[in-house]
Amino acid sequence: MKLAIASDHGGRKLKKAIRLHLLEKGLSVRDFGVGDDVERADYPDYAQTVSEAVVAGQFDMAILVCGTGLGMAIAANKVKGIRAVTCTDEFMSRMARAHNNANILTLGERVLGPGLAIAIVDAFLETPFEGGRHQDRLNKIAGLGPDPTSG
Ligand code: RB5
Repeated sequence: MKLAIASDHGGRKLKKAIRLHLLEKGLSVRDFGVGDDVERADYPDYAQTVSEAVVAGQFDMAILVCGTGLGMAIAANKVKGIRAVTCTDEFMSRMARAHNNANILTLGERVLGPGLAIAIVDAFLETPFEGGRHQDRLNKIAGLGPDPTSG
């Protein structure tokens, strides 16, 4: 499984803890920043870069960290094909995979301690999508938005 990870300044410490955990598990993970040399970073920039790489098929899944996880999710979900979810417990994380086929997990460093965050990450990576009726619903979500043939 190929993974991408990124954060803004608000999620930098938690991102590093998660990256280390993934590497210790022997997983392939590319870190898109933000690096220690940057004091402040805008989370939409990181969400965009990582989301586009996921949609392009360069990564199977990604993890985005900011202060709350919320800004990263809002930004990532602007990219067509991304299903980004903010999770605060393992149940949400498992369901986000099993029912929503989420491909990006967003987490908040100011919300979660590293132990819980890592348990949420593991649940996300270990849970398969159930497909079936859940795929039908995702197809409906994919069809939402302005009708390209109108106007
Ligand atoms: C940065 O201060 C903070 O706004 C950001 O990390 C994130 O929490 C936004 O949703």
